[in-house]
Amino acid sequence: MNLIRLFLVASGLVVARAFTPTTSINRATTRPLRRLSSLYMVQGQGDSYKKVFVAGGSRGVGRLVVDKLLASGSEVVALVRSEEAVGELSALEGVTAIRGDAMDYKTVEGAMDGCDAAITTLGGGHDARLDGKWVDYTGNNNVIEAAGILGVTRVVLVTSIGCGSSKDATPPSVYEVLKDVLAQKNKAENVLTRYYTNMNWTIVRPGGLVSAPETGKAILTEDATAIGSIHRGDVADLVVRALFSKNTKKMILSAVDPSIASSANTAGRINEAFALDADNVSIARWK
Ligand SMILES: NC(=O)c1ccc[n+]([C@@H]2O[C@H](COP(=O)([O-])OP(=O)(O)OC[C@H]3O[C@@H](n4cnc5c(N)ncnc54)[C@H](OP(=O)(O)O)[C@@H]3O)[C@@H](O)[C@H]2O)c1
Ligand SMILES: *[C@@H]1O[C@H](CO)[C@@H](O)[C@H](O)[C@H]1NC(C)=O
Ligand SMILES: *[C@@H]1O[C@H](CO)[C@@H](O)[C@H](O)[C@H]1NC(C)=O
Repeated sequence: MNLIRLFLVASGLVVARAFTPTTSINRATTRPLRRLSSLYMVQGQGDSYKKVFVAGGSRGVGRLVVDKLLASGSEVVALVRSEEAVGELSALEGVTAIRGDAMDYKTVEGAMDGCDAAITTLGGGHDARLDGKWVDYTGNNNVIEAAGILGVTRVVLVTSIGCGSSKDATPPSVYEVLKDVLAQKNKAENVLTRYYTNMNWTIVRPGGLVSAPETGKAILTEDATAIGSIHRGDVADLVVRALFSKNTKKMILSAVDPSIASSANTAGRINEAFALDADNVSIARWK
């Protein structure tokens, strides 16, 4: 077990370095910041969802997704493991925090019951279990399956660049370190794409995650060769906009930030941005 932990910590470092943005911002790609506020205005109809289930909402991207959903006027049901996370999230108006393990199918189904959309950012690799199950597959699969059973047709799954068609986008050294966790996430993607043909799903594959303020310049792209870094808040923003967007059904999109120079994208290649069709839906995203 200690060996596994050590391996995960060590691989985390390698990945962090490989994905880490270099300090210099690529000036050529910086545009004036248009975003003044992350406040969303709900028009009250169209494609807004009243109650959105979130798995992975205790921290990282998922936690920021909760904030974005609240700002968009949706209520949130968050399934989290720790008492601290329940306490923190319950203090937010509009959030119902349920304590439970996403590895347990019935727990997920029970928590999701009554929601009309679901987002999962579950991840983290091994759950230190004897049965060798990974939350990256089992947890995400539980969310997908529960959505299918409950008739929650709108699902956004957050995986990673390196999955499926984006395998070759990751530098080989990074892929080598991540391959086990990517295989698990890949299985979750495959469940959605192969078996839930009636579902309105969207898969978002972020590049290397960085905890830093939003740049407002990150993009979603259909280009599976895209690679780079992205700040967690920008992923959350794109995920929630994708949720509300009319044209994201059955789309698999990579999420990267062309304004951040990344050691994994030394060529500084810029990908064509996918145009979300959310401006005329339920949210006005710019002030
Ligand atoms: N790190 C990167 O560079 C990178 C790159 C691409 C994609 N990703 C993926 O992007 C996603 C977001 O990453 P992140 O770093 O912001 O978040 P993270 O720190 O990996 O958070 C994962 C979330 O999953 C929750 N979780 C894990 N096992 C669970 C279980 N059994 N039951 C309930 N909740 C469980 C965690 O809850 P607890 O707080 O209880 O642990 C946490 O909220 C993850 O899927 C990650 O693998 C990461
Ligand atoms: C899929 O979800 C989007 C976003 O809510 C929505 O605009 C679209 O109409 C949905 N598509 C179907 C076929 O339900
Ligand atoms: C918003 O949708 C309405 C009705 O579908 C359409 O008439 C209008 O042109 C759209 N506006 C924009 C800015 O896309």
